[in-house]
Amino acid sequence: MLATLCGFCSMIYSTFPRLLPFVAATAVFAAVIPTETVAQDAGDLFRNACAECHSGTQSGRTPNRFSLSQLTPRAIVAALGEGGVMSSEAGELSAAQRIMLGEYLTGRAYSEEVLPASAYCADAGPTRVNVNDVAWMGFGADLAGTGFQPAQRAGLSAEEIDDLELLWAFGFPDASQVRTKPTVVGDLAIVGDQFGTVFALHAATGCVQWTFEAEAGVRGGVLVGEDDDGRSIAYIVDARTTAYAVDTQSGDVLWQTRVGWHPESNNTGHAVLHENKLIVPISTMGEVVSAGDPRYECCTSSGAVAALDTSTGDLLWYHRVIPEYPEEAGKNAIGTQLWAPSGAPVWSSPTVDVARGVVYAGSGENLSRPANETSDAILAIDLDTGELDWIFQATEDDAFTMACSSSRNRQNCPSPPGPDLDFGMAPILVERPDGKEILVAGQKSGTVWALDPDNDGDVLWSTQIGRGSALGGIHWGMATDGHLVYAANADRPAEIVSVNPDMEWSPGLFALDLMDGGVVWSVPAPDDTCTDRPGCWQANSAAPTVIPGVVFAGGLDGHIRAHATDDGRVLWDFDTVRDFETVNGISARGGAIDGPGPVIANGLVFVNSGYASFGQMPGNVLLVFGVRGDAP
Ligand code: HEC
Repeated sequence: MLATLCGFCSMIYSTFPRLLPFVAATAVFAAVIPTETVAQDAGDLFRNACAECHSGTQSGRTPNRFSLSQLTPRAIVAALGEGGVMSSEAGELSAAQRIMLGEYLTGRAYSEEVLPASAYCADAGPTRVNVNDVAWMGFGADLAGTGFQPAQRAGLSAEEIDDLELLWAFGFPDASQVRTKPTVVGDLAIVGDQFGTVFALHAATGCVQWTFEAEAGVRGGVLVGEDDDGRSIAYIVDARTTAYAVDTQSGDVLWQTRVGWHPESNNTGHAVLHENKLIVPISTMGEVVSAGDPRYECCTSSGAVAALDTSTGDLLWYHRVIPEYPEEAGKNAIGTQLWAPSGAPVWSSPTVDVARGVVYAGSGENLSRPANETSDAILAIDLDTGELDWIFQATEDDAFTMACSSSRNRQNCPSPPGPDLDFGMAPILVERPDGKEILVAGQKSGTVWALDPDNDGDVLWSTQIGRGSALGGIHWGMATDGHLVYAANADRPAEIVSVNPDMEWSPGLFALDLMDGGVVWSVPAPDDTCTDRPGCWQANSAAPTVIPGVVFAGGLDGHIRAHATDDGRVLWDFDTVRDFETVNGISARGGAIDGPGPVIANGLVFVNSGYASFGQMPGNVLLVFGVRGDAP
C-alpha cells in the first residue's frame, strides 16, 4: 500500500519529518493529551468512534475504510475539525487524536505542505482586479446560471477542440478534492481550496500572484467587484458561512461576517454578486451528518438565502427556506428530543432574474418529520426584500439524514426515510427559441423541469431522463445555449430505494429541446473506463459547460470530454486520473470530476480533478488546457 502511495506523497515527506504516526502525535501535542487516552492507540480510537459507520463495503455516501485511506491526513483532520463534516462525531477527540486518526487511516505522516518559493510569480504583477475584464465569474458564468460562455469570452471555437493540449497543472497542497471554479479576470484565475486558501494564479502560467487564508474551506467561487471608493475587492465565502471582503491590492479584510444563523450552517454553493448585494446560499451539511449520532437532537436548522450589503457586510435580508421555527417532534428510540420542521438546505448557487427582481434557489430535503412544503423545491425570492414570491415543490414529504445510511444507529432516520431528492442546482433562466423566458432545473430524481417565471412557476413540461437516486439523477447542474439544455445524469445506486424503479439506470449526457423537453440526443457514459480503478463510477455528475458548438462534461471516471452540441459525438477526451508535474512543485493527481464543471475563458479550459466525497476518486489538481501558440 505505502509503495503505491509514495510517488503521490514524496513532497509531503520532504516537508515534514517522517515520524511514526503515534510518535509524531505525542511529540507535538503531548501537552494536550489526557493521560488515559495516550494509552489508547489509533486503531482503538477508530474502532470505538468511527468503525460503526466507516467499515464494510463502499455504498452510498459514507466512505469506507479503503476510501478513507485514499484521503490525505490533513483532509481527514479537517473533516474532523470545526466546520468539517465529522466535527460532531469527533467532538470529544483532542487535536492530537485527530492527527493520530489521519495518520493511521492513510499510513502517511500529517503535514501542511507549504508552497516552494518557485511557485510564486517572479514579478509582483497586477494585484488590482478590473471588473471589466471578468471572463468567467460564478457557478453558471452569468446571473442567469446558464453555464454558457459566448464565443468572444470563450476565445475557443469548435474547430480548435482537436488541438487542445495540457498547458499547465497546479497542485492543491494536501487536498483530496477540488470544489471551486476559478474566477477568470484579466490575467488572473482565482480559486479556493478545501482548507481555505484562495490562490490568485497568473492564468497563462499558473504562478501564484497572491493568496488569502479564509478560516475554513472554500467551496464556492470567488467574486470580484469594485467598491464606492474604486477599490478592487474579492468577496469570498467559506464553508462556515463567513463572508469576507478583501482589498486585492492591500490584502486588507474590509469586513468579515458569519452569515448562517445555525451553528451547523454551511456554505456549499457559489455566492452571487449583483449591484450592492452579495447573495449567499446556506445549507446544513453538518446536521445531515450529525443526525447519524442518536444522541443528536435532530434537527433545528433551515436552509437559507441571505443578502449582504457589499460595502459593509451588513445583512440586508435573510430568507429562511423553512419559515416556521422548529418545535418538539417526539423523542427517538433512545429518548433524544427531536425537532421539526428542519433542513431544506440550499446547496447550490442562486440565480438572479434582474428583470423580474427575483432570486431563484433550489432546496433540498427535510431532516426530520413532519416535513414541510418548502423542501425539494424551487423558490422565487424578492431581490429587494427577501420575501417569498412563489414556490414550486417537486417532491413532497422527503425527510432524510445520514442516520438512514447506518445499519445500527438509525434512531434519527425519519420514518419512513425519504428518497433525498434535492435540487442540487438553482434553475437556469433562459430564453427559448420562440422568445419566451423559462426556468429549467434538474433534480436528483432524474427529472428535468421547465417552469414559467411569469406564472408563479407553473410547470411547462417535465422530462424523466433517468431513474434518479440520492446521488443523482441530475446532481450539480445543467447548461444551456438557448437551443438545447444539456443535463448530466449521474444515475447510480444509492442507499435509498429509487423512486422510479421501472426506469433503467441511464448515466450519461442528455440534450433536451427547450420548447417541449423532448430528448434530442443522449450519450450514455462509457462502460469500460473503470477497470482497476477503485472509487470509479461511469456517470456524469459534474455540471456541464457549453460554448457555441461544444459542451464539456466531466465524468466520475475522471475523464473530461467535449461533445458536439448537434449530436453529442465525442470531439475530445482526456483522462485526468494520473500523476501530473505541476507548476507549483506540489505532487498532484487527478481523480473523479464532480461538482462544478469546467471554466472556459480567454482560450483556456480550466478543469478541476479530484472529488473524494461519497467514496469517489480523490485528486488535487487544476488542469489548464489550450491551443499552444494561441493561448494568452
Ligand atoms: C454516525 C456515522 C459516522 C460516524 C460515527 C463517523 N462518520 Fe465519518 N462520515 C459519515 C458520513 C455519512 C460521511 C459522509 C458525509 C458526506 O459526505 O455527506 C462521513 C464522512 C467522513 C469523512 C470525509 C470524507 C471526505 O469525503 O472527505 C471523513 C474523513 C470521516 N468521515 C472520518 C471519520 C472518522 C475519523 C470518524 C471517527 C472519529 C468518523 N468519521 C465517524 C458517517 C460517520
